[in-house]
Amino acid sequence: MFKLDTIISLAKRKGFVFQSSEIYGGLNGCWDFGPLGVELLRNYKEAWWKEMTYRDNIEGLDASILMHPRTWEASGHTKQFSDPMIDNKTSKSRHRADNLIEEFIEKLKNKKKEALALEIETELIKVQKNEDYYNIIMNYEIPDPISGTKDWTEVRNFNLMFKTFVGPIEDESSIVFLRPETAQGIFVNFKNVMESARQKVPFGIAQIGKAFRNEINTKNFLFRTREFEQMEMQYFIKPGNEVEQFEYWKNERMRWYENLGFKKEKLKFKKHEKLAHYADNAADIEFEFPFGFGEIEGIHSRTDFDLKAHQEFSGKKMEYVDTVNQERFVPYVIETSGGVSRGVMALLCNCYDEEKLVDENGKEDTRVVMRFTNALAPIKAAVFPLVNKDGMPELATLIYKDLQKSFKVEYDTSGAIGRRYRRQDEVGTPFCITIDGESVSENTVTVRHRDSMKQDRLSVENLKAYLFEHLNK
Ligand code: GAP
Repeated sequence: MFKLDTIISLAKRKGFVFQSSEIYGGLNGCWDFGPLGVELLRNYKEAWWKEMTYRDNIEGLDASILMHPRTWEASGHTKQFSDPMIDNKTSKSRHRADNLIEEFIEKLKNKKKEALALEIETELIKVQKNEDYYNIIMNYEIPDPISGTKDWTEVRNFNLMFKTFVGPIEDESSIVFLRPETAQGIFVNFKNVMESARQKVPFGIAQIGKAFRNEINTKNFLFRTREFEQMEMQYFIKPGNEVEQFEYWKNERMRWYENLGFKKEKLKFKKHEKLAHYADNAADIEFEFPFGFGEIEGIHSRTDFDLKAHQEFSGKKMEYVDTVNQERFVPYVIETSGGVSRGVMALLCNCYDEEKLVDENGKEDTRVVMRFTNALAPIKAAVFPLVNKDGMPELATLIYKDLQKSFKVEYDTSGAIGRRYRRQDEVGTPFCITIDGESVSENTVTVRHRDSMKQDRLSVENLKAYLFEHLNK
């Protein structure tokens, strides 16, 4: 397991991820994707989009971020989308009470105090109200990680939605919220999509977009941020089919992560003990990050909670009319909800590798390799003239310009060829194409494979077809 700091440092150095507004000292919980990060992010989203919408019965949608404020009353977010917050009076630090307890439990486990950890874990599952969190913190004398004191305020609710105003007047009537999940844009468009796309239940709606949560504590790089992207799919079904469909989508989503190159042993399901206000069943797909297992996607059985609530609050019918069986019902929903930035962070951790090499003289070396699958790699191929003379740069440029019409390709002339290979290994480029003396006389190139480091020699005219074939594997 590599350290998170190693991955963060590579992400910054190579232009995957930068701190937001870094020159001003950064803005907590916000990150920017650099040139390679944005390619990776796009490839990741594209893989999901193809997986979910290139089917008969799942349609795409791109709803607005700002929605009518009644949306959030109906969905329950205005009242219930809050986290329990506690402040330490000495350090003035602010914590999520449940996270504070969970982190304390982890520390106990690391110190092999399993029995006490289990006792507190059992108490945590039973929590009903804020006072219960407070009692656990006081009874088990959980200290502030910063000051070490147990000088706590009571636990209060903190609503996570960001507020802003529409129009020039900043009063109660102009308040709107930045959406905390993309899902509600799908629910309110359920009928529009079904009717315009002539779909019948069961069918789904998929969407990728930004969501915002004013998290009490942001942490662990892209894991918990205040601005992030989600890729969500709501699958509308006939009530009574939810158990079978929940299992189906759990397995479909796990298969997707595995096919994307996530290591099987780093993925697992975690069933929810405590359910959100809208769900009757829920499980997370967790990935093993350097700091332990954490959720990357949630699969929720949301019943008819959302559609019924929107029906009540808007006064518009959200029923489905099954003309064949002469039935009417408000559909149940199975939701798959993945984080894009959190998923990309998991991918960086999953693909980072350090490989020990020994050259023919017995000299040891370490090569850093990002083992992205071809479909996800930000740069598909790099083109190198071996030296900057003897017709090599001219031929290399021709090849580079031609490949650029089809793929994201890089051109690099600087430094020894070995160093150029290493630069591409670090960012996960699957193929390096070298133009040498033989290339000029014979119209051939070498193609070096990132993982095996083996080289093939092939004619320039076959190069593009060769890359197409390998990149589509
Ligand atoms: N519509 C259901 C929903 O939003 P969620 O479990 O709150 O469910 C789904 O969020 C996914 O969104 C999570 O699995 C995670 O990948 C991502 N996510 C949630 N909060 C996040 C945050 N603060 N920062 C980054 N990703 C987040």
